[in-house]
Amino acid sequence: MAKGEVSKTTKYREQYQPSSYLIDRVDMLVELFESHAEIHSCLALRRNPLFTGAVEELRLDGEELELKSIAVNDQALPLSGYELQDAHLVIRQPAESFTLKTVVQIKPQDNTRLEGLYKSGSKFCTQCEAEGFRRITYFLDRPDVMSVYDVTIRADKNAYPALLGNGNPAGSGELPEGRHWARWHDPIPKPCYLFALVAGDFDLLEDSFTTMSGHPVALKIYVDKGKLDQCAHAMRSVKKAMQWDEEVYGREYDLDIYQIVAVSDFNMGAMENKGLNIFNTKYVLANEMTATDADYDGVEAVIAHEYFHNWTGNRVTCRDWFQLSLKEGLTVFRDQQFSMDMGSPTVKRLDDVRVIRTAQFSEDSGPMAHPIRPDSYVEMNNFYTVTVYNKGAEVIRMLHTLLGADGFRKGMDRYFERHDGQAVTCDDFVQAHADANQRDLEQFKRWYSQAGTPVINVSDHYDAANQRYTLTLKQHCPATPGQKEKQPFFIPFKIGLLDKAGNDLPLNWQSKDADDQAIYGREAVLPLQRAEQQFVFEHIGEKPLPSLLRDFSAPVKLRYDYSDEQLAFLLANDSSLFNRWDAAQQLVSRVMLNAAEQFRAGEEMRLPAIVTEALAAVLDNHQLDNALRARLLQLPDIGYLQELVEKIDIDALVAAQQFIKRRVAETLYQPLRDCFQRVRGATGLDGDSAGRRALANTCLGLLVDSTDAEAYQLAHAQLHEAKTMTDRFAALRALAHSAAPNRQQALDDFTHWYVDEALVMDKWFTVQATAPLASALQEVQKLEQHSAFDAKNPNKVRALWMAFSHANPAGFHRADGAGYQFIAERVARLNQSNPQLAARLVSAFNRWKRYDDDRQQLMLKELKALLTQSGLSPDVFEIVSKSVE
Ligand code: PHE
Ligand code: ZN
Repeated sequence: MAKGEVSKTTKYREQYQPSSYLIDRVDMLVELFESHAEIHSCLALRRNPLFTGAVEELRLDGEELELKSIAVNDQALPLSGYELQDAHLVIRQPAESFTLKTVVQIKPQDNTRLEGLYKSGSKFCTQCEAEGFRRITYFLDRPDVMSVYDVTIRADKNAYPALLGNGNPAGSGELPEGRHWARWHDPIPKPCYLFALVAGDFDLLEDSFTTMSGHPVALKIYVDKGKLDQCAHAMRSVKKAMQWDEEVYGREYDLDIYQIVAVSDFNMGAMENKGLNIFNTKYVLANEMTATDADYDGVEAVIAHEYFHNWTGNRVTCRDWFQLSLKEGLTVFRDQQFSMDMGSPTVKRLDDVRVIRTAQFSEDSGPMAHPIRPDSYVEMNNFYTVTVYNKGAEVIRMLHTLLGADGFRKGMDRYFERHDGQAVTCDDFVQAHADANQRDLEQFKRWYSQAGTPVINVSDHYDAANQRYTLTLKQHCPATPGQKEKQPFFIPFKIGLLDKAGNDLPLNWQSKDADDQAIYGREAVLPLQRAEQQFVFEHIGEKPLPSLLRDFSAPVKLRYDYSDEQLAFLLANDSSLFNRWDAAQQLVSRVMLNAAEQFRAGEEMRLPAIVTEALAAVLDNHQLDNALRARLLQLPDIGYLQELVEKIDIDALVAAQQFIKRRVAETLYQPLRDCFQRVRGATGLDGDSAGRRALANTCLGLLVDSTDAEAYQLAHAQLHEAKTMTDRFAALRALAHSAAPNRQQALDDFTHWYVDEALVMDKWFTVQATAPLASALQEVQKLEQHSAFDAKNPNKVRALWMAFSHANPAGFHRADGAGYQFIAERVARLNQSNPQLAARLVSAFNRWKRYDDDRQQLMLKELKALLTQSGLSPDVFEIVSKSVE
C-alpha cells in the first residue's frame, strides 16, 4: 500500500467496541512555519473501564505524520516499545494509565485534501470531522473519546497576528525572532473532531451577547482583509440564533467567547468546532451588492446550524460515525425550525421538501441508498448525505408531529439531562423522548434502520346514506441494496377534508384500533402503522375532497387519483398553503409528463387551459404573500420530474419542460408583465421586500422564456439598473438561460463588474454551467481556462463541474456522451488532490440505470474505466463500485 493510502475495507455498525483507552486531557503545542508545522502533544491516557477485552497494545490513529520523538511518562520510548504502521502508532504493553508525549512534523502547505491542518491562501486552518485529527497528531480518533484540551499556538507575528483555538483564551505573549504565542483552554470535554485552530491576518467584526442567565459572551467574526462590509448579516444571525435557542429549547451558550472564521477553501458549508466555527466564505459574507436573498437565507441558516450544534453535537455527541444523524438530522431540523420562525414558514417548508423530493428520493432509490443511520461504510466522508442530514431532519420532524411541540420539548430536556457530556446513539435519543412522554416508540425506530422511500396508496369511499367517509391507506417500501423486505413504518399522515366551498370540514374520526383516540378538529394526524389501514370519518354531510399529507408530514411518495380539476380546486382553496403549492406542482408535473409522452409519440405537445387559468388566478390572488405566489408560479424542473417516472427519457423531459414553460409564458405574457411592473424594484432587506423581488423575478424569468424581444430588453435594463444582487443576478440568469441576442454581452458586463468578488464569480460560473443550451459543455470547457477558475478550490469545482454534472441534465446527458467523458476526466484528476470532492462529483453517474440503453452504456463505460484507475481513493472507489454492482 502506498504511503498515506488507506484500505478500502468496510466498517460495520454492529462491530462497535468501546475504546480500550480514554484520553482525559490533551496538551498541545503547535509550531507553525512556512515550510511545515510541528505538533507536540501530551496525552493523559487511562484504561477504559467499559472495555472488557485483554489489552496487549494500544493503537493510535495517525496519517501522513512524521514521528520525531516519543516518550511514555517522560521517558523516551525505545524502538521495542512501539511500532509505526501505515496509519497507526502501536504502543506495546501499555500501562493502566500513563502520559504519552509525541512530536510529529506535518506539511499543511501540501495538504490539498483540506482535511487536518492546511493552508487556505495565507492562513492556516483545520478541518477534523470526521477523521482529520489523525492527520495532525497520533490520537484515538473516534468521537467517543472526549478530552479537555489546552493548546498553545506559535507562529510569526507579522504574518499571523491572530492565533485562535477552541474554548477560552488563556494567555499570549511575544517570542524571539518575531514570533508570538497564544494559549487556549477548553474546559468542556470534546471529541477530537471538534478540535480547531486558525492562524492568519484577518479583519475582525466584534459584538457581544448576554445569555439568559446574564453571562456576557464575546462574539467575533474573522474574515479576509477588506471584507468587513460583508459581515453584518452573519453577526445579526449569530445573535438571533443564540436568542432563539434560549427561547425555544432553553439552551444557553457555555463559553466566554464564540468565534467564526471564514475561509475560501473548504470542502463543506461550515464546521461546528467548539467555540471556533470555521466557515466557507459562502456562508458568512453577504451584502446587498454581493449576495442574493437566497444567499442571505443560506448564511442565516448555516450560522444557526453551526451554533445549534453546540448543544446538539458538541455537548451531546455521537458514539460512533454511524450515529451521524443523531447530531445532523437533529441540527438540520432545529435550523429549519429556526428559519421558519424567522421568515415565511410555508416558503421555508416547501423549499426543504423540494430537496427531499429531488435529491433525497433520488439517493434513496439508487445504489447508495442507506438508512439515516447507516449499517456500514467504506469511507465515512461519503455519508455526509442528504439522507443522513435532510431525511434525518424529516424523521425528527415526524417525532415532533407525533409528540406535539410540548412533548418534543420534554423529550429534548430529558435527552440533555441524561446525556450531557456523553457520546450516545440514535436509540438513546429516541428513548429519551419515549421515556419523557411515556410513549412506545419501538416501531418508530424503523425510520433509523430501514432505507428507501415508502409509497402510500390512498383510496377513499363516501357512503352518502350513512354520512360516512372512509380513507384507506396502504404503505409499501421498495427494496434497497441489502434490504429486500421492509416492515411497515409508523407514519404520521396529516390530512384535512374540503367541502364544496373549499372549507375544511369538521373531522370526527375514530380508527378501528382501540388504542387510537378520537380526533375532533379540522385537521388530523392519522397514525398509519400497518401495511394497510382504514380511517373512518362519521357525520360527513357531503362527499369531501381530501387534502393529503399536509405539510409533507412524512418523507413518503403519495399516490391518489386526483383529477386536474380537483388539483386546481386545491390550489385555489386549500387552507394548507403548503398543499396549495403541492397541488400546483402535481398539476404542472402531470401536464409536463403528458407533454413528454406526446413528444415521444411524435405528437404535438399540448398545454391544457386549466393550467394557465390556475396560474393566472395565482397571479391575481393578492391575498397570498408574494414569496409564496412566486413559488406557486415556479414550474417543476427536470430534477423534480425525473423522480416521478420509472425510466428517464431525458430528451422528452427537456423538450416537454421547455415547451410548457414557453407556452405558459406566451399565454400569460400580459398578466406576468403587469405583475412584474407592479412589484419590481424593492430594495429593503426585510422579508416583504424580498418577497416582492422573488415574485418580480419569477415573472421576469417567465417573460424571458416567452423569447419576446421586449422581455430581453426588460431583463437587460434590470441587469444594469439593479440595486440588489438578487435583481441583478435574476436578470443575468434569465438572459444566460435564453437565446437572447444580448446574452453574451450580459455575461461580459457581469464579469467586468465582479471579477474580484470570488463568491459572485461562482454564481457567474454556475449560471453558465447550468444553461439549458446545446453549447453548455463547450462553454464549461472554456470557463475552466478563465483566470478566476481554480480546480484546487472546492467552491469553484462546485460552481462549474458540480453544477454542470448535477444541475444541467441536458448538458451532462448529451447523447454523444461528451458530458460524461468530460466529468469522468475531472473526477480522475480530483481523485488525486481532493478525494472527498471527487466522490461527490462522481455521484452524478449514480443513477445511470434509469436512463435509456445508449446512455446507460456510455455512463457505465466511464464508471468502469474509473475503477481500473491506479491510486483510486477509498472515497471514489466506494461510490463507483456500489454504482456498477
Ligand atoms: N459537521 C458539519 C455540519 O454539518 C459538516 C461538515 C462535515 C463539515 C465534515 C466538514 C467536514 O455542520
Ligand atoms: Zn451539521
